[in-house]
Amino acid sequence: MQVLHQLPHVKDKDLLVGIETADDAGVYKISEDVAVITTLDFFPPIVDDPYFFGQIAAANALSDVYAMGGSPRLAMNIVGFPKALGLDVLNDILRGSMEKLNEAGALLVGGHSIEDSEIKYGLSVTGFVHPKKVTTNRGARAGDALILTKPIGVGVITSALKAGRLKSRDAGDALASMSALNKNASSVMGDSGVTACTDITGYGLLGHAMEMAVGSKVNFVIRSKDVRVFPEALKLVKRKSNRPRNLARNIEYLAPNVRSADIDEPLRLLLYDPQTSGGLLMAVPAGKATRVVERLHDRGVFGFVIGEVVEEEAGWRIRVE
Ligand code: CO
Ligand code: CO
Ligand code: CO
Repeated sequence: MQVLHQLPHVKDKDLLVGIETADDAGVYKISEDVAVITTLDFFPPIVDDPYFFGQIAAANALSDVYAMGGSPRLAMNIVGFPKALGLDVLNDILRGSMEKLNEAGALLVGGHSIEDSEIKYGLSVTGFVHPKKVTTNRGARAGDALILTKPIGVGVITSALKAGRLKSRDAGDALASMSALNKNASSVMGDSGVTACTDITGYGLLGHAMEMAVGSKVNFVIRSKDVRVFPEALKLVKRKSNRPRNLARNIEYLAPNVRSADIDEPLRLLLYDPQTSGGLLMAVPAGKATRVVERLHDRGVFGFVIGEVVEEEAGWRIRVE
């Protein structure tokens, strides 16, 4: 969140990742072999089905640990809930979340709930990583390939679902994508030469790519035709009322540093679409990219090369071809 950058920077010799780098988790070394990763995420429902919402919220909260190359271990619920709603709804949310925590191998050890005017749900998650195997968004180098592990467009899809302009059964792929953990994607990073990683959430593909490029002091070239999008999203984004509010904010904030060639407007817009529980964006030396993509596919992850890292150059940060 931008406001965090105005806080004084915290310094400690064992603090490996703090708030100044726009990573979404903090990393603190507790021994030569172990660092703790800590993160939290919560938001109002983005789908009607409470069980599914719980799954997505958990996958999203766990993702920041996976993006740093870690294994989530402990989790705590964060709940805002209106009294008027039946507790069955809350039970379903928690059941969905627990299922994903089990899949992640993380233990739910507590939490806190307050009465609220609308449902909010999320988790704080604690994970572990070897201090030398932390992947931040600062390590990308010119010559690296960029790999993305989920298609984009779920922001437009959930906003159309909410407005009743899309049926759940026509959004199956996007819903499954949001509830899928980044666990398998993360598991290939350890020894595959990945130099930097982030997960794609509210700032959209270009926003999180921008943070990585700035943090790494490099520029990115993204080939739009290689970025997979959910086909429904390409249709839905043409209608302004289907665009999430933050899509326009992302464009306004990022566009000054994005150069884009003549690409189709719906596709261009989706590059800014805010994602929930999006995929991982990894940078890896070009010579290793094919192998990483193969290993992702072996583990059932939808990974593909979408561009490359080039030397830093003033006047732009990301070029979209
Ligand atoms: Co993140
Ligand atoms: Co986050
Ligand atoms: Co309490």
